[in-house]
Amino acid sequence: MRVLGIESSCDETGIAIYDSENGLLAHQLHSQVKLHQKFGGVVPELASRDHIKYFAPLLNAALEQAKLDKSDLDAIAYTAGPGLVGALLTGACFAKSLAWGLGIPSLAVHHLEAHLLVAQLDISDFHPPYLALLVSGGHTQLIAVRGFGQYEILGETLDDAIGEAFDKTAKMMGLSYPGGPLLAKYADSCSPELRNSLSPFPRPMTDRPGLDFSFSGLKTHVLNYWHKSSQDETARHAIAYAFQEAVIDTLLIKCRRALKQTGFKSLVVAGGVGANKSLRQQLEGMAKALQVRLLFPKSEFCTDNGAMVAFAGWMHLTQSHRDPDWSVEVKARWPLRHG
Ligand code: KG4
Ligand code: ZN
Repeated sequence: MRVLGIESSCDETGIAIYDSENGLLAHQLHSQVKLHQKFGGVVPELASRDHIKYFAPLLNAALEQAKLDKSDLDAIAYTAGPGLVGALLTGACFAKSLAWGLGIPSLAVHHLEAHLLVAQLDISDFHPPYLALLVSGGHTQLIAVRGFGQYEILGETLDDAIGEAFDKTAKMMGLSYPGGPLLAKYADSCSPELRNSLSPFPRPMTDRPGLDFSFSGLKTHVLNYWHKSSQDETARHAIAYAFQEAVIDTLLIKCRRALKQTGFKSLVVAGGVGANKSLRQQLEGMAKALQVRLLFPKSEFCTDNGAMVAFAGWMHLTQSHRDPDWSVEVKARWPLRHG
């Protein structure tokens, strides 16, 4: 079975083809980063218009890459939420129209579920149960994945998501959008002397039991620190390093707790912040010490992409037996537990 996956929940247009026998056949992506850069954040209306512009060319490129014709597709999966409602609608309409024209089923996919499942596409011998750390621009969650469709949110952020905290901290120091990867570069290139001279930033909510997160206090701490600093490149390096260390340490403490609580022996990291090099290294150290298997999908599958949608779509087609539905329904908010 060949499933086309369409992702358009935010600022990435992703189209991919997953084949249940041969794996991923094609994977095409267009990033809107340049489009939104001058506004310092995603402009929803521009995002929607840009998705529409790129669906057809990316579909053609994916078909060419897979050496297939549209008529070889068996089903179409699209992200129906959570995300920007206008952007989601463009993907839903494109998917439904194409499916209607080809006479094949289309189905709605939950964006976060797609992030959770993509490790199973990327690493073939990997199956639940596992703990998933979902760290993206909109979400920070620890989820117990007990099987397909069996997800329990063990902890989540009470305010800012991790990617959002990275982006806001970067923006405050005058770094361009999206600040997360740039802030990480500043942190990683902070000199050893500067690192040693810094007093650590707070590790929020680690002094009490539980698995929830909160990053707004850390953001305020960073803001005060920046205002009192020299506001130059040295200050940027110092703050980026201290901020990144505080965030990573907090994540590690909560992951350790969640692994102990569940007794799971595997940890998957999903979402855009999973591309962070230092987070990867420090989680590797922790996993080794705890004798836990740590899985990182490739960076291109950590950030938004069509492959995860195609794969999640295939899982639903073969395992959840939903009736085909031609309504174009998307959800800006869609809690995973009710998904
Ligand atoms: O999962 P994603 O591509 O989009 C959604 O939010 O769904 O995640 C994007 C987020 C952004 O906030 C971006 O700044 C952050 O992931 N990000 C990073 C890094 N690469 C991407 N944050 C820290 N370090 C990175 N290397
Ligand atoms: Zn995402």
